[in-house]
Amino acid sequence: MPSEKSLKHYGLLYGGSQAMESLYLQMARVSLTDATVLLEGESGTGKELIAQTVHQLSLRANQKFIAVNCGAIPAHLIEAALFGHEKGSFTGAAKQHAGYFEHASGGTLFLDEITEMAVDMQVKLLRVLESGSFLRVGGSTEVQVNVRLIAATNRSLQTAVHDGSLRQDLMYRLAVFPIRVPPLRERGNDIELLAQYFLQELNHQAGTCKKFSKSALDKIKNHGWPGNVRELKNVVHRAYILSNDNVMLEETMAPQSAAKPILMNGMLNFSVGTPLAEAQREIILATLQHFSGNKRLTAATLGISLKTLYNRLKEY
Ligand SMILES: Nc1ncnc2c1ncn2[C@@H]1O[C@H](COP(=O)(O)OP(=O)(O)O)[C@@H](O)[C@H]1O
Ligand SMILES: [Mg+2]
Repeated sequence: MPSEKSLKHYGLLYGGSQAMESLYLQMARVSLTDATVLLEGESGTGKELIAQTVHQLSLRANQKFIAVNCGAIPAHLIEAALFGHEKGSFTGAAKQHAGYFEHASGGTLFLDEITEMAVDMQVKLLRVLESGSFLRVGGSTEVQVNVRLIAATNRSLQTAVHDGSLRQDLMYRLAVFPIRVPPLRERGNDIELLAQYFLQELNHQAGTCKKFSKSALDKIKNHGWPGNVRELKNVVHRAYILSNDNVMLEETMAPQSAAKPILMNGMLNFSVGTPLAEAQREIILATLQHFSGNKRLTAATLGISLKTLYNRLKEY
C-alpha cells in the first residue's frame, strides 16, 4: 500500500484532522471493552471502516466480523436472517439454519442502517440484547451467543426516534457508547490529503505517476462533499481514469451548486457560495418538512406571509 507520509492513519481509517483524532480516541477507548457502539454519521463517512477497526483492535480480532445491512433484507426475512430458523419452520426451510448472530458468535456483528429495520423487529432485537439469548424461527430452545454489537445509522438519531423509525428503548440500549462520525467537510486538510492518498493508491496499482492539476486541487478543497469520503474516492477514481499525467476534475465533478445541503439534527449545512435563491428554497422546503407540511406554521416561523410561501412553493 502506498504511503502518503503526511496523512495519519488509525486502523483502516485515514486522516489526521482534529475531528478524526477525537474519533480515534473514542475508538481506542471502546475497543478495549465489549460495549455496544452506536455510530451516527452521514453516508460515506466511513462507518463500516470504523466498525471493522474497532473489531480489529478488540480482543475479538481473531474471531469473525459480520456486517449486515438491515435496509437490504426484506422485512419478512430479517428475523430468520439474524436469528436463524429450525428445519420446517416455514416453506422452503429444508434444514436448520444459523443466523448472523450465531455466525458472529465470539466476534462482532455490525448492524448497518438500523433505522431501516421494521419496528416489530426492533422489539425482538431489544429483547435479545437484554437477555443475551434468542430462539431460532420455529424453535423452542434458547440459543446463547456472545456477540459484540456495533450499530450504525446515517440518519439523525433524534429525528429517527421522533418520526418513529427507531424505537427509543432500542436506541438507549444501543447507545451505550454513541459515536458521532464527522462529515468530510469538517475534516479540514484531510480532504486534500485523502484525495492525494487515493490518487497515490491508484498510481501504485497501475504503476503510473499522475498528479492533480492546480485547478483540480482547488476544486477538491472547495467542494462541499455531501457524499463524504465515498464521493471523494469515486471522484478521484473517475478523474484518474479520464486524465493523462495531469489529473483534472473539470468534467467529472458536479458543480458546487448542484450539491444538496445536508439536513442533520435539524440543521442545514450550506457551502460558502451557495446561491441565495437556492439557500432560500432549501430552507423553505426543510422547514415545511419539519412542520409536517403545515404551511401556516412554516410561514409564521420563517417570517413570511402565507401568500409568499404559496408563491414560492408554486415556483419550486
Ligand atoms: N477515513 C477514511 N480513510 C480511507 N478511506 C475511507 C475513510 N472513510 C471512508 N473511506 C472509504 O470510503 C468508502 C465509504 O466508507 P464506508 O465505511 O462504507 O462509509 P459508510 O458506511 O459511512 O457509508 C469506502 O470505500 C471506504 O473505504
Ligand atoms: Mg455503510
